[in-house]
Amino acid sequence: MTSNTKKLFIKTYGCQMNVYDSDRMTDALAEHGYETTAEMGEADLVLLNTCHIREKAAEKVYSELGRLKIMRDARREAGSDVMIGVAGCVAQAEGDEIMARAPVVDLVFGPQSYHKLPDLVARAANGRIVDTDFPEEDKFEHLPQARREKTIARGMTAFLTVQEGCDKFCSFCVVPYTRGSEVSRPVAQIMAEAQNLAEAGVREITLLGQNVNAYHGLDANGEPIGLGALLYRLAEIEGLERLRYTTSHPRDMDDALIDAHRDLPEVMPYLHLPVQSGSDRILKAMNRKHTRAEYLALIARIRAVRPDIAISGDFIVGFPGETDQDFEDTMQIVRETGYAAAFSFKYSSRPGTPGALMDDQVPEEVKMERLYRLQALITEQQAAFNQSCIGKTLPVLLDKPGRNEGQIGGRSPYLQAVHVDAPVSLIGQMRMVEITGLSKNSLQGRIVTESPEESANLDVSSEHNAHERSENV
Ligand code: 5AD
Ligand code: SF4
Repeated sequence: MTSNTKKLFIKTYGCQMNVYDSDRMTDALAEHGYETTAEMGEADLVLLNTCHIREKAAEKVYSELGRLKIMRDARREAGSDVMIGVAGCVAQAEGDEIMARAPVVDLVFGPQSYHKLPDLVARAANGRIVDTDFPEEDKFEHLPQARREKTIARGMTAFLTVQEGCDKFCSFCVVPYTRGSEVSRPVAQIMAEAQNLAEAGVREITLLGQNVNAYHGLDANGEPIGLGALLYRLAEIEGLERLRYTTSHPRDMDDALIDAHRDLPEVMPYLHLPVQSGSDRILKAMNRKHTRAEYLALIARIRAVRPDIAISGDFIVGFPGETDQDFEDTMQIVRETGYAAAFSFKYSSRPGTPGALMDDQVPEEVKMERLYRLQALITEQQAAFNQSCIGKTLPVLLDKPGRNEGQIGGRSPYLQAVHVDAPVSLIGQMRMVEITGLSKNSLQGRIVTESPEESANLDVSSEHNAHERSENV
């Protein structure tokens, strides 16, 4: 290692968009001599990439900064030093407050400043900096693409942000304020990034956006195209076998996107389509701009073209004014929809959102009880779906070593974790796997053919999925 190599440690909170952003920050700093380390204690630069979606997520940042202060004091006493930066949505929303509350922080910068990071780091050596502007220039044009070796090291699945920001203004949500209004990346930029990923061996791409199905990037003729049309183009890239996208809003699920689920085998039969509540009264108060009937009709349309599609969702319990009946309506929409997986949260009042000013905030113990009941129902549905997969044969993209020796793991089309007994040499391969059993968080299976092509006539239909990310009761 050369003497001017510096070490970078990034801790990422929150959604997949932050995971993607942390990789972009890593790539930007790599060009300036920073190498990542898994040991926070030996880093020259520690970045916290933060999440502001709920109060608990935001508070975690301040606890971590308390620990970092102890670490930095010890480092200084030992004659070395560390620079500390806060990125992400807490940085965007509370930049000045972070500076006031946490003198240990050298640098605060929002999601729209990541392309300026090397410069900000250099400048922060001479004094504390806050940069939370929304600049005119396109940050993606200035962010470097990952080097081929880096992409290979990151594995055969990758995220690709195609859209940022949100114009929906759900009354509980900070995203329109922290990430700003909707911006879609141009088609050519996305195609080039996807092409690079595929050439480095990536087989599965998940397109990301806070409101991904509102994507409307410009094509070569300067015409906006939607997410459906983008999927058709991406499906043509050699080597890309699987496409996913998240997170979608029911209002933006248009025909072209539904057609893509019908026509493209690359588009995985899994759809994260949050409804948040099953009560029309609460949906209105949430400013969701759709009713429960419209949501259910949409699910029916999607299932008509792709009957095996696994539906996942997000729910909020205890939104201001939510009555027992409203909550029962939520339980009912869950029963009617039949989720393969779902994430559920207690409403968290966020400063600056309309929800924070509403009367009738629901008491904590009521939220707790509702969350408990909702999660029990979701867990039951998830288990039933997983159970229904036993005996089916599914294509699994094997992408990592398993927990036990001799085991490797991957994902089914429905995003379920699947483990098989197989050598690590098969990591990176797609295999047909017969599902033989269930364990707590994954399916177990047995490889039945060398590759999906050899088993084109096998039945791979099934439903639903499971994985856990919800709030703990
Ligand atoms: N309180 C609780 N949950 C929230 N979410 C967004 N904002 C809040 C909030 N203020 C949830 C929604 C969203 C998911 C990402 O987080 O369910 O879909
Ligand atoms: Fe937040 Fe609603 Fe936008 Fe999703 S659609 S990011 S919940 S405002």
